[in-house]
Amino acid sequence: MRIALIGYGSVGKAFARLLESQRKRFPFRITAIQTRKYTAYDPKGLPIDPEWGPPASVPEFLDKAQPEVVIEITSLNPVDGEPAISHIRAAFARGLPVITANKGPIAHAYASLRAEAAAHHILFRFESTVMDGSPVFNLVRNNLPGVTIHGISGVLNSTTKVVLAEMAQGRSLADGVRLAQEMGIAEADPAYDIDGWDSAAKTAALANVLMDANVTPQMVERTGIGAITPEEIQAAAAAGFVITLVSRAKREADGSLTLTTRPERLPEDDLLANVDGTSNVLLLHTDLMGTQGIVSVTPGVEQTAYGLFADLVDIAQQL
Ligand SMILES: NC(=O)c1ccc[n+]([C@@H]2O[C@H](COP(=O)([O-])OP(=O)(O)OC[C@H]3O[C@@H](n4cnc5c(N)ncnc54)[C@H](OP(=O)(O)O)[C@@H]3O)[C@@H](O)[C@H]2O)c1
Repeated sequence: MRIALIGYGSVGKAFARLLESQRKRFPFRITAIQTRKYTAYDPKGLPIDPEWGPPASVPEFLDKAQPEVVIEITSLNPVDGEPAISHIRAAFARGLPVITANKGPIAHAYASLRAEAAAHHILFRFESTVMDGSPVFNLVRNNLPGVTIHGISGVLNSTTKVVLAEMAQGRSLADGVRLAQEMGIAEADPAYDIDGWDSAAKTAALANVLMDANVTPQMVERTGIGAITPEEIQAAAAAGFVITLVSRAKREADGSLTLTTRPERLPEDDLLANVDGTSNVLLLHTDLMGTQGIVSVTPGVEQTAYGLFADLVDIAQQL
């Protein structure tokens, strides 16, 4: 199966390594790559470090690449989800299935992208947009038939967890951000993590897909961790509390949705306060299946790559 990648940063390279390791079992080939600055094509399959050619627009790139599936993994734009939304539409316009790890399009335009994909019988998958490759959307789609999700709560941003843990040791927010950057987990612009944009985008994406909302990250009541001090975290710890950035979505009795992303002071035995390091936790509050939890223990870019791979296997089985 011929794959075109739009974006080739940490996730793209981890995905290329994963395909390389699975070559004997899965006949997937990356035959074209586009970044902001370069393109590369080889119908026989590109190496992990390809020879780069000149840039092209996404439509030109797709027309030349002639892929069977497109993977959109450009940088997050939490403000309006572009240009990733247009990249996905360019693939749909050519009848091509799309996989993305970019939460911008799911947070800003899920309802319309889903409708466009359905109208043209095109498969569209996005497992890695929230909690790296841990099954969230695929779990609900495949294993929770008939269930209505009326609430979501989660600790979904690894960078703020690392920063708050550093501050709990008396170090500064800037020290924490530097550490998260060294670990390769911060967004290209770490302000998106610290100001809560990444978490708000995940909250909107989860609500859009799992609660049939039609919201954007701007509609999430958002407070970041920028105003928290090491002293505050240490005082909370001394009193048996943990301060962490929590995302919540709740369907109210009148049918409206309450969406929040903000630092919360949780009792230290709260499930949401009990995942260490970069680990994430998500709770789905349902009607027929109580509360279900998903924990991603120390996720890394390899898990994000696996989420793309899982979506690819799913699509390959249906084509
Ligand atoms: N890293 C993670 O652990 C993780 C986890 C879950 C989801 N994600 C999501 O996955 C996506 C990729 O993350 P990453 O860590 O791989 O990012 P990254 O290392 O910053 O790489 C981004 C890539 O996108 C390319 N790009 C940016 N704008 C583009 C445009 N307009 N047209 C074509 N290419 C463009 C960049 O090209 P240049 O190099 O030419 O600038 C680069 O190759 C993001 O949306 C991120 O939020 C990441």
